[in-house]
Amino acid sequence: MANSQGLALVDLDERGIDRAFRADVLEGLSQKQKALPARWLYDDAGSQLFEDITQVEEYYPTRAETQILSDRGEEFAAAIGPGRAVVEFGSGSSVKTPLLLKAIDPAAYVPLDIAGDFLRAAAADLAEKFPDLPVHPVEADFMREVKLPEAVEGMPKLGFFPGSTIGNMVPRTATDLLRTMRQTLGEGSHLLIGMDLIKDRAVLEAAYDDAKGVTAEFNLNLARRINRELDGTIPVDSLRHLAHWNDDFARVEMHLEAQEDIAFEVAGQRFEMAKGETIHTENSHKFHRRSANLLLLAGGWTPVRRWLDKEERFSVVLAEATVPRSAP
Ligand code: AVI
Repeated sequence: MANSQGLALVDLDERGIDRAFRADVLEGLSQKQKALPARWLYDDAGSQLFEDITQVEEYYPTRAETQILSDRGEEFAAAIGPGRAVVEFGSGSSVKTPLLLKAIDPAAYVPLDIAGDFLRAAAADLAEKFPDLPVHPVEADFMREVKLPEAVEGMPKLGFFPGSTIGNMVPRTATDLLRTMRQTLGEGSHLLIGMDLIKDRAVLEAAYDDAKGVTAEFNLNLARRINRELDGTIPVDSLRHLAHWNDDFARVEMHLEAQEDIAFEVAGQRFEMAKGETIHTENSHKFHRRSANLLLLAGGWTPVRRWLDKEERFSVVLAEATVPRSAP
């Protein structure tokens, strides 16, 4: 999953420090409400911990979305039709993508990812599972418009963006990304997108604060990463993982909370946190039908169909690229 978080190409300074990581951390820790971009959660250790999260009992989204993709194949086939070039934003997971490809009889598969290693591994895996399907991996940052391979130019496109990764973006960024996807895929294309649903606060908070502490480790790993990569002295044992539902913004927020007054250095700069102060590390927005539709519409996509899992915890939405109209 690290791959679908939009990791930037690594630009190292003369000491081997990732410049973008350092800039984001120094800026984020200098703010009144300390905050770090969630994409930095996904170093190798963080990516592995995220994989572990998808297996914990309380974290329902992966299982719920997989259930939809495996149970509704015939309905996907009828709604989407054969002969599409499936363009996946982020390299496909070994489980979800084959379920879709098996169901809809596509003409080609185009995984887009900025992380070349993940991309090649995912493309090779898919090519083995679907020997007759042309696979055209493209190493690119899908947050910007991407030129698709000539081989798929004339084909109708289906964008695929599973996992409710759209929920990790604030609405402004999510809207920008949806518009960019529309430019990449072109007029007449469709998008199949996973969007997690609003539900009981207790269920949501447990999904992001599991009893085994896997999500806590995932969050704390960011502080460890800062210490490792940016000469940090953050006292990680004095931080605690927090996950809480922000009802105004319809999102689960992850924070690292100081358990006592602390001071530390990062890349030669000194920071302080008073007891109870937090570093905001991730948002995971949740949707209901109307808010999901509104976000898609704002991004230039008209929702045409949606599917829910049996317990109605998660949605997969099919939308089509809207032709702009001047009508009211
Ligand atoms: C990757 N993304 C959709 C996950 C989510 O549910 O927001 C990331 C995650 N963070 C903590 N648990 C899972």
